Amino acid sequence: MSNYSPLEVTFVKGDGCWLTDNKGDQYLDALSGIGVVNLGHCHPVITKNLVEQSQQLIHTSNVYRIGNQERLAKELCDLAKMDKVFFSNSGAEANEAAIKIARLYARTKDIEKPIILTANQGFHGRTMATLSATGQSKVQAGFSPLMSEFIHVNYDDIETFNDYQNNSNVVAVMVEPIQGEAGVIIPKNDYLNKVQDVCKKNGWLLILDGVQSCMGRTGKLFAHEHNEITPDILCLAKGLGNGVPIGACLAKGKASKMLTPGTHGSTFGGNPLVTAAALGVLEVFKDNKILENVNEMSKYFLSEFNTKLRNNVAVTEIRIKGLMIGIGLDSNIVDCSQLVKKALKDNLLINVTGTSIRMLPPLIITKEEIDILIGKLIKLIST
Ligand SMILES: Cc1ncc(COP(=O)(O)O)c(C=O)c1O
Repeated sequence: MSNYSPLEVTFVKGDGCWLTDNKGDQYLDALSGIGVVNLGHCHPVITKNLVEQSQQLIHTSNVYRIGNQERLAKELCDLAKMDKVFFSNSGAEANEAAIKIARLYARTKDIEKPIILTANQGFHGRTMATLSATGQSKVQAGFSPLMSEFIHVNYDDIETFNDYQNNSNVVAVMVEPIQGEAGVIIPKNDYLNKVQDVCKKNGWLLILDGVQSCMGRTGKLFAHEHNEITPDILCLAKGLGNGVPIGACLAKGKASKMLTPGTHGSTFGGNPLVTAAALGVLEVFKDNKILENVNEMSKYFLSEFNTKLRNNVAVTEIRIKGLMIGIGLDSNIVDCSQLVKKALKDNLLINVTGTSIRMLPPLIITKEEIDILIGKLIKLIST
């Protein structure tokens, strides 16, 4: 169907931060398949786990116990300080599970028409529920009637919740720790702490959509760890499988007890193969080298950017947390609509959202690769 309009390039091989197309040309991937192959393309540990698991058993069903899934659930819960997990195949489905949990939570409070507060410009997926939760009209256009339970409030504005504190139908707040699809919008340092305070005060569930910002992307395994908080529900996907489709909805306390046998499910969710990949991802994160690299490369990128690009007339700002990078541009100077194609011609993969370049390079990127990236960015916006 024509819902995508792919660029004229076909990649046939990936290695670390690099992709090779079918003509043999190499490209620097500063997007990681939109924040998915965080450990780089074809990471040996993930490949090994996939090969070994696929030789042994690919799929059974959630009708039976799945050893890898149970191990992954335990490891994820321990790391995220959560109690239970539901495994899905994507970020949208992880969020769907969170929304269903919020509805069941509403039932425990005798609320018939629950409201979930979500943020303007936020992005939560493309299913009917998650696009209703999404705060972007371009994602919703043409798909009405939307689910009416979502009310969009201003992101990074704690006052915005004041209007709802006396609304007894509100059951949850669902936000991204950093808004990714909106172009890397980083809230104030204490925003999530304040959102958690408001949620606690009102008995609302705090649902964090960490689909894009977790799995090491910001320099912590989970983005909200910068705030030292634990949400009631945490949704993961993208980097969790390093390219293998797996999502997870983690929950703690009351929220973890809402789903009971028969209330939710997924044929593929958490099967032996995808959970083998995710176990590999967690194994790679164990020695902390990846997170150290993210923090070091983040600083290096910023210092190189400040020296070589900050004063460029086309640049309006930089928004960076770990290796989640947004560069604001002056659209009077740069034709932003042409940047992705222009970068591709220079063998660089980036994304552009509105007037911002968005980059989510693999977390294993090196200084040498950042030097190449900065060189390509200079060319991209200066000519
Ligand atoms: C924050 C966030 N939530 C949810 C999604 C949807 O994930 P998926 O495309 O895997 O359904 C995305 C995808 O970009 C995302 O960035």
